[in-house]
Amino acid sequence: MIRARTESRIAFVELARLDKKNALTGEMYGQLADAISGADRDPQARVVLLRGAPDCFCAGNDVADFLKRPPLVEGSPSARFFVAMQEIRKPIVAAVGGPAVGIGTTMLLHCDLVYVADDARLAMPFTSLGLVPEFASSLIVPQLMGNARAAEKILLGDPFTGADAVEVGIANAVLPANEVVNHARRIAERFNALPPGAVRDTKKLMRRARSQAALETIAVEGKVFAERLQSPEAKEAFSAFFQKRKPDFSKF
Ligand code: COA
Repeated sequence: MIRARTESRIAFVELARLDKKNALTGEMYGQLADAISGADRDPQARVVLLRGAPDCFCAGNDVADFLKRPPLVEGSPSARFFVAMQEIRKPIVAAVGGPAVGIGTTMLLHCDLVYVADDARLAMPFTSLGLVPEFASSLIVPQLMGNARAAEKILLGDPFTGADAVEVGIANAVLPANEVVNHARRIAERFNALPPGAVRDTKKLMRRARSQAALETIAVEGKVFAERLQSPEAKEAFSAFFQKRKPDFSKF
């Protein structure tokens, strides 16, 4: 479900659960955490290239898995993934095509360079699922784009295009869908010609101001998120998802 290999000094990490649009289960979070930390330790790898399928990056947390296994408890696979993404010293380049929903978008906030296809469709629809933002997105999204545009994306949960993602500072460039992975790979290859120590130290300096605040925010969000998962609002949203109908929040 997660494919990981190192080749030409690039650690390729690929989400590969195509029948469920790369929705992430606990098991996949664990594999992702291992792949990211493994790439950091691997002397053969200088950079991580993170990608999904060409037509779908990631449909978010697996909704069924949410209910079986509350995701954000300390030491859980998703918490391990968050820590691995925070702690990795090497750069992460992401290639994104098609939908990138929930964690599919919030994980991009922790990548260093993000390339999106012209068919990319990003969204953080936490409120419409009766939930709250995770992975420090409640901190980073307003910081990146200002409160007004952040409110559209995380209070209203409006989807947005790859071009919007570039405009608000989440992504670097929009590419034709069939070129995005190759472009991201060419960018990743550039790290092979740079001194890795200087790259590591620069990444650390760039993250310094935000890393403590991000860790604190992840912890606070996690508590509220776990409560929200038990809420009648979330139960209605999840039932509606499985029954393939619109949720009805009129009674709350
Ligand atoms: N959790 C569990 N299963 C999911 C999923 C998720 N987050 N996202 C998609 N799937 C499943 C669907 O239930 C469907 O399963 P089925 O074939 O057994 O019915 C399969 O993946 C294909 O999804 P489908 O909705 O038919 O594909 P699509 O191409 O029409 O739409 C998405 C793709 C990503 C736009 C749509 O699946 C979607 O909106 N998913 C939910 C996103 C979401 O709310 N995520 C949670 C964020 S916290």
